[in-house]
Amino acid sequence: MIRAVYPGSFDPATFGHLDIIRRSSTLVDELIVGVLNNNAKSPLFSVEERVRMLEEVTENIPKVKIVPFEGLLVEFARKMDARMVIRGLRAITDFEYELQMAQTNHKMEPNIETAFLTTSLEYSYLSSSTVKEVAAFGGDISQFVPEIVIEKIQEKMIKRRV
Ligand code: PNS
Repeated sequence: MIRAVYPGSFDPATFGHLDIIRRSSTLVDELIVGVLNNNAKSPLFSVEERVRMLEEVTENIPKVKIVPFEGLLVEFARKMDARMVIRGLRAITDFEYELQMAQTNHKMEPNIETAFLTTSLEYSYLSSSTVKEVAAFGGDISQFVPEIVIEKIQEKMIKRRV
């Protein structure tokens, strides 16, 4: 039984994240999408909102479970009884940070391995931060995120303006 954790901030989830979730879920028996609860990052969405959106957009993908977490990723993976961590790699700019994180995690917990999936070409430019920036200036984000995320971002932007 292979259970993997795909961790991230998902603030908000993009088509790039969904691509990694869809593809990695076919490689494992269970995929736990770990949603980081870290207020130090001042997320646009609360962890509950991010979990709810992810649940909605992944409801038709089998074997996927959305679970919030705090603290160290390796401790979360251990608690979930998962030995594999999955991360997406977009471009070479991601590599240094991801390598450092994977190696640190491996030092802390040698039983946990990180596996990388290269993001599909059509999403290799995409990030949650750019989606938020485009949305903040009223740009069209329909190519970047699912419909439910568009609605939630728009609600946030309206609330911020009043
Ligand atoms: O979507 P992100 O923001 O790139 O995800 C980063 C994440 C959540 C995977 C990373 O920040 C993380 O694992 N945080 C938990 C704290 C931790 O374990 N840090 C040590 C890793 S070097």
